[in-house]
Amino acid sequence: MDTLISKFPDLVGQAVTVKGWAYNVRSSGSIAFLQIRDGSGFTQAVVVKTNVDEASWQAAVDTTLESSVEVTGTVSKHPKQEGVYELQASSVKLIQKSEEYPIGKKEHGPDFLLDNRHLWLRAPSQWAVMRVRNEIIYATYDWFRDHDFIKIDSPILTPNACEGTTELFEIDYFGERKAYLSQSGQLYIEAAIASVGRCFDFGPVFRAEKSKTRRHLTEFWMMDAEMAFVEHEGNLKIQEELVSFIVKRVLENCAAELKLLERDVEPLKKVVAPFYRLTHAEAIRILREKGSDIGDMDDLGADDETTLTQMYDKPIFIEKYPAAVKAFYMKRDPSDPTRVLNADLLAPEGYGEVIGGSQREDDYEALVARVREHNLPEKEFQWYLDLRKYGSVPHSGFGYGLERLVTWICGLHHVRETIPFPRLMNRLEP
Ligand code: 4AD
Ligand code: MG
Repeated sequence: MDTLISKFPDLVGQAVTVKGWAYNVRSSGSIAFLQIRDGSGFTQAVVVKTNVDEASWQAAVDTTLESSVEVTGTVSKHPKQEGVYELQASSVKLIQKSEEYPIGKKEHGPDFLLDNRHLWLRAPSQWAVMRVRNEIIYATYDWFRDHDFIKIDSPILTPNACEGTTELFEIDYFGERKAYLSQSGQLYIEAAIASVGRCFDFGPVFRAEKSKTRRHLTEFWMMDAEMAFVEHEGNLKIQEELVSFIVKRVLENCAAELKLLERDVEPLKKVVAPFYRLTHAEAIRILREKGSDIGDMDDLGADDETTLTQMYDKPIFIEKYPAAVKAFYMKRDPSDPTRVLNADLLAPEGYGEVIGGSQREDDYEALVARVREHNLPEKEFQWYLDLRKYGSVPHSGFGYGLERLVTWICGLHHVRETIPFPRLMNRLEP
């Protein structure tokens, strides 16, 4: 019976066939140990020369690091280690004998590993990161489905900017006009709320900003959510519920992966709503007390976020930023029109921004004024302005960066390990 290694706990004593890759091999004259990975898990096949035919023994001895193999045998419990299962081999087939594998046991630098990303993805640590990423994606879909959100796919080819014109990747559209790769599907799902009420999108977005930091990719996956009849306060509640749910699901379903990554799960267990809240003005005051020379109406930089998030044991919302440092579509705070009804959600332990969101300007005249102030092409934005003419309602939304969430939840240093094939300012390959 063909099976997956992850099913071994239920198959003790049974004869099974496993197909996978040898990630470690050792043999003496009479016994060979093949450590095998099949995508679902890891196991050790024990091949005793006297228990298998000659072809199988030869295949076991010939197996090199990363060769593909098929092993049939009986599932057994490891004699000493609780929860570990082995395969007592009765036959071994070598599917393809690997050439000398470039990634060895010794430490490699990040550039070498990234140049070999097509192979590095197989490393147990990278396997674990991809599985946590997958769990976050599924948890997100599940939470939205359970809370009456509809998935609406937004376009990637767009005629205009959503966040800021300097960050756009421009492409030539049939030699006739320019098009841009989407930075966020937000504006499009704002249109969809008048159809479906609450919705989200989830897809690749592109930022041409020239940032070489551990938090920036040029292509990353963003989830945007948008809700009709939800104001600033309700927006934050939805975000903290969603993020708490995601973290809980990863803790439940990815314990082995987090252990493999040596992630301390204690801080993650504290990620339960409600989260902390600081206004931007309060955050500035705290940073100044800590010796920063940040100005009253300045945006927070990465270092400022790190300082703040090291002070608290849960995610923090920073609310009501100065309008001047945020996007044109954010609604002004009625009690202080120099500020907007927004919040950035900062992940703890020094990680910083994982979500950006706000209540949206829903008044036609006010939004036209914003478009003009920001020197945006009014004609290209007419459809977006239209939404304020035909049944405009108070509404809010937010967007998370998937790789930022994976980085934090896995406890990694850099976002580049959290996407299968990272695109950075200085990296487009493989
Ligand atoms: O804060 P941002 O720019 O917000 C928006 O795009 C809104 N339109 C979202 C919305 O309200 N629907 O980006 C959202 C999130 C950030 O909080 C961050 O997690 C992530 O996207 N992000 C990046 N992740 C990796 N590399 C980059 N260059 C990123 N830029 C933003
Ligand atoms: Mg932001």
